[in-house]
Order: sequence, then C-alpha cells, then structure tokens
Amino acid sequence: MPSITVQPDLLIERILTLEIVRVTERAAVSSARLRGHGKDKASDQAAVDAMRRELNKLPIDGTVVIGEGEIDEAPMLFIGEKVGTKQGPKVDIAVDPLEGTVLCAKNMPGAIATIAMANGGTLLHAPDCYMNKIAIGPGYPKGTVDLDAPTEENILSLAKAKGVKPSEITAILLDRPRHADMIAAVRKTGAAVSLISDGDVAGVIHCAEVKTGIDIYLGIGGAPEGVLAAAALRCIGGQMQTRLIIDTEELRERTLKMGIKDPKKKYTIEDMVRGDCLFAATGVTSGAMLDGVKFGKDVIETDTVVMRSVTGTVRRVRAEHRELAKFHLD
Ligand code: FBP
Repeated sequence: MPSITVQPDLLIERILTLEIVRVTERAAVSSARLRGHGKDKASDQAAVDAMRRELNKLPIDGTVVIGEGEIDEAPMLFIGEKVGTKQGPKVDIAVDPLEGTVLCAKNMPGAIATIAMANGGTLLHAPDCYMNKIAIGPGYPKGTVDLDAPTEENILSLAKAKGVKPSEITAILLDRPRHADMIAAVRKTGAAVSLISDGDVAGVIHCAEVKTGIDIYLGIGGAPEGVLAAAALRCIGGQMQTRLIIDTEELRERTLKMGIKDPKKKYTIEDMVRGDCLFAATGVTSGAMLDGVKFGKDVIETDTVVMRSVTGTVRRVRAEHRELAKFHLD
C-alpha cells in the first residue's frame, strides 16, 4: 500500500476537529442543566465556564477574536483572551458558548453551543454590534443574490436560479419589528416567511440544509453570529454577504481599534473567514439542526455537528457521557 504523507498542520487540524467537539459538548451540557429555569445569565455563564475550561486543555496557541465581549465587560472568553496550552498552532477562535440564551432560559427550540477555529489572523474581528446579512445555500451561480439589491429582486433571482416559482421559496428572518418591511417585501413576491425568535447562526446554516426547507436568510442579526455562520458556510458551501451596522461614534472608534478601516465594507464569506476553518455546534435544546442534551439516569446524550472546510466533511457526533452523568460534573 502506498504510504500517505500527512503535513503536520493538517494532522493537527484533523485532531482538533474531534477535540472541538468536546468543547461544545461540555458547554451545551452545562447550560442545558439550567434549561427552562428562566436564568439566561446563569446558563450563559455555565456555558462560558465549561467552554473556557475545555479550550484551555487543547494543544493550541489560541486567541479569542469573537467572544463574550471586551475585556472590561467579559471576565472570561473576552476578545483577545489567550486560550489553550500554547503548545500548538496559532489559531483564531470565535465562540458563542450559548447561542440563544433566551431560548435556553425558556426551554424553546434551537439553542446551541458553538465555536469556529481558523489559522491565526484569518477570522474577521467583528465587534459586538448588529450586522446586515443575506445568505443562500450551495449550488447557485455567484451573485444570485446581493445584500444591496431590493428584497423582491433577490427572491425572484433565487427562484429563477433554483428553477421554481417564487411561491416555492422560503426566507428565514429573526422575528423583529425592524424586519417588518422586509417580511412584507418577501411576501409580496409570493414567497413564504419562516420567523425565528432567536438563533440566527443556525438560521443561516439552515439555507444549506435541504431538510429545513429554507432557501434564504435575510435581515439584521448579531455580527459575532455572522462570523460563526460564515465559518459554517465556508465548510459546507453557500453564499453570504454582510455589512456591519456602525451607527454611533463610540462604535466607530471601537471598530477602528479592531482593525476595521472601512466600516461600510461589504463582506463575503472569504472576507470573514480568510482561510480554512473548523466549525462545531452542539444542541442545547432540540431544534431543526441538532437535538438538545438529554439527561438520563446514568448517561447524558449530546448531538454535535462538526465541519472542516479543507475537505467539506460534516460529521454528526452523537455522544453518550457516562462519567459526566455519574458525578454531575460539568
Ligand atoms: P444571544 O444568545 O446572545 O442572546 O443571541 C441570540 C440572537 O438571536 C442571535 O442569534 C442574533 O444574531 C441576535 O440575538 C439578534 O439580536 P437581537 O435579539 O438584539 O435582535
């Protein structure tokens, strides 16, 4: 048999693919223990603590570039925090230990623990602000939709590219008053609207999952969530365009400090994730993408999706955690 030479970088990255599963699993289990108790801050903190603990066990020289906020407002997993054993590759890390804090607090579908990892200096350092986003799944010609085009035009162009009537297109948006005009514009074309109360990382990813029946993501959500979703689409394909919403002088200064010179720049996936990456998410509550954490008497079950852009491989990891169940550790 011919021997296969594996480059060290690639080998580390392959090992990390499975290691980051542990990171999101632990964050999901910790926050899921508080699921449905109406404690959004406590469940978020539990996820942050667990994720940080697991990240610090990884053989990486990691820097959090998308995290829980600036150092003065986030004691852990703050932007710029160094994580890992420092004995390994330099990597940029984007985390949302509990994406959908309210979903978890209310035990509603779709809360996840999520992370993206890429070579140092390749992830967009997005401030914690809003972002305008548009995304579609893979297989469409480049430019099928455009962030700056009218909503009607995007729906009609997407329907044409898919070879269906506009009425067979479904757009997903966060259910917010700010989207009222956009929702009306989608419906005017005959297309359907699917509204989510929170969780637009999964909302964007749904566009690339045929089973969800979602064709396009539209609207305004968090910028950190935008970068995480871009990492997932970088792995599984699709198109995404975004623009930060920099609407105060304070934010403009903060953005400049983070190295963003043009606050009006329109980003593509390749601008937000400038190289290969890994993405993982574990379900906290059950949703269209992932099952939530299940607590048995002697076992805890988790459901994770982990993706790798180098090969486009997507793995589903259904894990049974016995030690964790025994000691009620997190
Ligand atoms: P959190 O988990 O931080 O609460 O974010 C949930 C979320 O729905 C994101 O998925 C989304 O990008 C953002 O909030 C939208 O912000 P807002 O609730 O202010 O419209």
